[in-house]
Amino acid sequence: MEQNYGRFLTSTITKIPGSIHTEIKNLVVNDTPLIHNLSFGIPNPETFPLHKATVTLKDGSKFDISPKEMTETLQYNKINGYPPLVKHLKHLIQHLHNPPKWSDREVMVTNGSLEGLGRVFEIILDNGDFVIIPEHCYQGVFVTTKHIQPNYITVKSDHDGLIVECLQDAILNCRSKGGSPKALYINPCGCNPTGTVLSESRKGLIYELACKYDFLILEDDPYSYLDYSEEPTVSFLQLDTEGRVIRLESFSKTVSAGLRLGFIIAPKPLVYVMGNITSTTTIHTSMLPQVKRATALKLTYGIEID
Ligand SMILES: Cc1ncc(COP(=O)(O)O)c(C=O)c1O
Repeated sequence: MEQNYGRFLTSTITKIPGSIHTEIKNLVVNDTPLIHNLSFGIPNPETFPLHKATVTLKDGSKFDISPKEMTETLQYNKINGYPPLVKHLKHLIQHLHNPPKWSDREVMVTNGSLEGLGRVFEIILDNGDFVIIPEHCYQGVFVTTKHIQPNYITVKSDHDGLIVECLQDAILNCRSKGGSPKALYINPCGCNPTGTVLSESRKGLIYELACKYDFLILEDDPYSYLDYSEEPTVSFLQLDTEGRVIRLESFSKTVSAGLRLGFIIAPKPLVYVMGNITSTTTIHTSMLPQVKRATALKLTYGIEID
């Protein structure tokens, strides 16, 4: 994908360097035996108190977290997520969406899609930047951008979701005043709070507008897995030939909200920048939900990936 993503990033974000935790991650995961840098504070796995675990599902079936997996659970790990889980998620996304130019994209595990959303806004929105949202919009958008105070451009919807003509008018109106929207935030399936499902033809037209007027599409789509239509709907990710779509995924509506587990699929340069922020804050999503999810996915799909 020939995008220069620099124009979408905030003025300060490019100044955040990769952190010490990137080094920690490499040391732990690559298990470099000759280097023992005590300043990283990597705990000795022999001191970990937990050995293994068995999780019992409500239907009586069980899966184990082996001693090896338990050691991984209790240690620092990769910023983008527990590698076996990331592999599973990539497999899933490729299978479900088959996105164009797949090798130019990366997956990053998050503490749910709200955290993912906050991370995306953090790297792209400066104070006063323009972001397009549906007239009735998921309140998480306002929560995660409160400290940034962007300019929201609201667009009307009907039963088929966002009205394309209104979107175009809103963009032209913004441009006539010297502005330019950086991104469109949208829930294509089961929009929160209106419940609308964006029709496939509108998705294509909206994607064309994104290409024409050069903005990103933030596809926050936690309810698509609850859509039981016979024909699977096309996602923006599936249409994304130009590397403009950031897709936010969540396990909150399908497995558990309390596990706090989701993930982002985005062009590699953007995941790299988001990873730098993660490395200076949480380092990575908590390992127990990640290992549990990876183990459960391994059982569900029967794929041995690690
Ligand atoms: C549209 C939308 N996005 C994101 C979220 C937050 O999901 P998570 O629990 O993964 O942070 C919700 C939760 O209600 C939602 O409705």
